[in-house]
Amino acid sequence: MENTLDIDKLPSPKGVPVLGNLPEFNAENKHQVLEAWAKEVGNVYKISLMGKKFIVSADPDLNQEILKRRPDAFRRFGKIDEIMSEMGILGVFNAEGEQWKIHRKLTSEALNLKNVQGFFPTLQRVTHRLHDRWLKLAEQNDTIDVQKEMVRYTVDITTDIAFGYDINTLQKEKDVIQDQMEKVFPMINERITAPIPLWRYFKSKKDKAFDQAIESIVKLVHEFIAEARERLKDNADLQANPTNFLEALLVEQSSSGLLSDKEIFGNVFTILLAGEDTTSNSISWTLFYLLQHPEVFQKVREEAGRVCGDKLCPSSNEELAAMRYTEAVAMEAMRLKPVTPNLYMEALKDVTVNGLFIKKGMTVMMQNKVAQTDDAHFTNADQFIPERWIPKACPMHDKHSPQIMRAFGAGPRFCPGRNLAVHEMKMALAMICKNFELTLQVKPEEVIESFAFTMFPKNLKVKLSLR
Ligand code: HEM
Repeated sequence: MENTLDIDKLPSPKGVPVLGNLPEFNAENKHQVLEAWAKEVGNVYKISLMGKKFIVSADPDLNQEILKRRPDAFRRFGKIDEIMSEMGILGVFNAEGEQWKIHRKLTSEALNLKNVQGFFPTLQRVTHRLHDRWLKLAEQNDTIDVQKEMVRYTVDITTDIAFGYDINTLQKEKDVIQDQMEKVFPMINERITAPIPLWRYFKSKKDKAFDQAIESIVKLVHEFIAEARERLKDNADLQANPTNFLEALLVEQSSSGLLSDKEIFGNVFTILLAGEDTTSNSISWTLFYLLQHPEVFQKVREEAGRVCGDKLCPSSNEELAAMRYTEAVAMEAMRLKPVTPNLYMEALKDVTVNGLFIKKGMTVMMQNKVAQTDDAHFTNADQFIPERWIPKACPMHDKHSPQIMRAFGAGPRFCPGRNLAVHEMKMALAMICKNFELTLQVKPEEVIESFAFTMFPKNLKVKLSLR
């Protein structure tokens, strides 16, 4: 192991006695602290949090290799599973080993491109509703919080795709399940990063409200499971062509017996968790850049006009596929603002990766935004230039490294919802740019990165008007 480096030889940012780097790390936006340290001490370094050591890596090659060596050598940070299992969630995101392989196969199949294309009518219906809602908001001259609007959009799509429920948060002011879901993400984030699991000994008002939220979501999803089972009973047609994720899982359960009811619940819940905020935040960040780049906004508008003619938005998968510039815009926003800038992985055994020895149980905190915004990998890396994603459109780009993009992770646990997410992003962006004018109501620097398991633009306040 002559050329092997181990954690002791890694540099480290300056800490304080006993607590180590905890005081600075304890900030709300941990990813920004970790990114700043990478710039200060180097791409691979260690930190100590009350004596416990962690490796932090902003090195794209090391991160790629770690992500690839799952599920055998690495798993997601164990605490994620601990917290999710405690909430009764057992699905593809937190399963490991052989169990993960079963969940993964089912999830990937349910979200493959062919099935995602089959979801087009849902995307179209919800995009029309977003249009109608924004029309009213524009007439009222209201200031809107874009991120909250986009959550409604992705919640409506995802709930329909997950279990065929038309939740319609775009047209209804209140929905019970949505109210409850909104409490889940921030709480998972809070508990994963809590130094002491206080809620196990003493339940605060917030913990109790959270328990109640989980309870009512569980109850509702179980009602959906019962209804779907009833629909599938004696219906060979539906069994052969399930119309949503839940039905597909139930068909699989009755043919292979591989999934328990608990796992079916866990996977449906996982799709809601994994598919909503990630996509809504990515659309919101894209709009944040479009607002500052009117020339790009105009190009998306022109593309939408060319592709959709008089219609409000793309009306088929073919039209959606033709929105190539809009896709480049989405990619560029995800490069600059990946909504999961932190991916934490834990070694399942002693392992050497790219010359770095990582001991069993050690957690590696990956910071993927650092490389995505580094001139070493992308020319003028800090600038929003969608053309870099279109071959030959931008001759100035001698440096372009799409292989280091980690917005959707990498390796065997790469995001299975990518196709769906990109379809949703393009659909929303096309409709918005084609039909509305947006004016930012705050200074761009007042729109800040905020974190609740995923990173979202806080304070993205906009006024709408009709084109
Ligand atoms: C722009 C939107 C999205 C982003 C940025 C995103 C990002 C990610 C990332 C970074 C991971 C971890 C990958 C890894 O560990 O290598 C992930 C996993 C996952 N995502 Fe997404 N995602 C998005 C949308 C979606 C959607 C729409 C769905 C489903 C409806 C989805 C379902 C999942 C699932 C089930 C996993 C866990 C996969 C596994 O562990 O095998 N995601 N996503």
